Amino acid sequence: MTTRRLFLQLSGAVGGSALLPTGSGAAVPGPREVSAAVPPFQAEMPVPPVLRPARSTHGTDHYELVAKPGTAAVLPGLSTPVLGYQGSFIGPTIKATRRRRVAVTYRNGLTEETAVHLHGGHVAADQDGHPMDAVQPGEKRIYLYPNEQRGATLWYHDHAHHIDAEHVYRGLAGFYLLEDPVERMLPLPKGKYDIPVMIRNARFDTDGKMIFEWRDFFGRDTIIVNGKPQPHLRVEARKYRFRFLNAANLGVFKLSLSTGDSFVQIGSDGGLLPRPYVTPAFQLLPGERVEAVIDFSKYPRGTRVIVKNEYAFTPETADIMAFDVGDPAPDRSAVPDVLRPLPALGPADRTRQFVLGPDAEGMPVINGKSFDMDRVDTTIPLGSTEIWEITNNDVAQPIPIPHNMHVHLVQFRVLSRNGAPPDGGEAGLKDTVTVFPGETVRIQATFADYRGRYLYHCHFLDHAAEGMMAQLEVV
Ligand code: C2O
Ligand code: CU
Ligand code: CU
Repeated sequence: MTTRRLFLQLSGAVGGSALLPTGSGAAVPGPREVSAAVPPFQAEMPVPPVLRPARSTHGTDHYELVAKPGTAAVLPGLSTPVLGYQGSFIGPTIKATRRRRVAVTYRNGLTEETAVHLHGGHVAADQDGHPMDAVQPGEKRIYLYPNEQRGATLWYHDHAHHIDAEHVYRGLAGFYLLEDPVERMLPLPKGKYDIPVMIRNARFDTDGKMIFEWRDFFGRDTIIVNGKPQPHLRVEARKYRFRFLNAANLGVFKLSLSTGDSFVQIGSDGGLLPRPYVTPAFQLLPGERVEAVIDFSKYPRGTRVIVKNEYAFTPETADIMAFDVGDPAPDRSAVPDVLRPLPALGPADRTRQFVLGPDAEGMPVINGKSFDMDRVDTTIPLGSTEIWEITNNDVAQPIPIPHNMHVHLVQFRVLSRNGAPPDGGEAGLKDTVTVFPGETVRIQATFADYRGRYLYHCHFLDHAAEGMMAQLEVV
């Protein structure tokens, strides 16, 4: 299908019209490099290792993290230069517990400045990895995370000024799983049946090097899951909880199962939904997380269940990964009808408008202005509750472009999408929300606990680094 049709479909997908099946049309622009030669489901899906604390003191776990160059075996027989935490293509997972602090001693072993941001974290402004707080090469600093918020699938990634898009692309991202004692009492699948799944894409040259070009939406044609191309995972015939994250800078995914069966979505960016949401497919745009339970017990041994991407624009990228079902296993887990009540939605103090779209030069900006570290765009009194009306007016230039809005510091609620209430999968706490071309989404957040400057931006990180980013200051 043509790029124009893809985007018309992407933009229409939420506006009501159905997405056409993928793989039905002609090739799209963007040279194919080695990825076409890699057959899917060859690699075993790794689960990123859990980082052990360097030490634990009363109430605090201390970790050590270093950003440095490394190499990774991503494609068969090739070695890929990466930038990673501990030099690894996907950072180690940090497991935190609610109300137990985490201190991360972070060392910059790169040749460029960096900052680490805990995406979705409710942290003080000077701990948020703001690009004005960059850590210079060879230097180190400590980040403090109080973990007072609800349990959630968070992630950490680079946030250096302007070069964060390329840094994240080259590997500077990892999971930060905040566990909540309240949640632990629910009978959801746990332990080795609770698996984080980081989905992204990249473009490789024939030597296995990753090619980074701005806004290379169609060129990043290799799907990578937990560091491997379209891998498979052997599962027991029982229930699993998966924490899906879209860590791509530009990739748009809508996940469904080749069996036609539904996911039971239990969580979103900010943790558990109030109640499970049964859906045959869910959208996952950059920065977003969806937690879902899949029950493999109904499939005979040897069944391959493929996770499809309904937003794929080539047949080669239509498969994300596969589950290979093995023997039945005892399973006492269950998805309760009630997961976790949401905090009350109080009255709002004011409403603001934000427009995502191109400036006169066609660069991606917010409210007509490109990011300026020295400018505060939005001043918010501490403790106030605001409704933000976010419109994507990127409807015209060569093709309509989807965007999303990520706000640091807060977990917000989606009030409406084009005037209609959000579906059950978007009814929980969110920190990143997709806005398709022509859409208006209303969100509500309370800016509590911390004063200072925080970012909000499109999480298509190439767009953010090009200017679609702004600053709020809680005063
Ligand atoms: Cu994933 Cu500014 O964030
Ligand atoms: Cu963030
Ligand atoms: Cu964008």
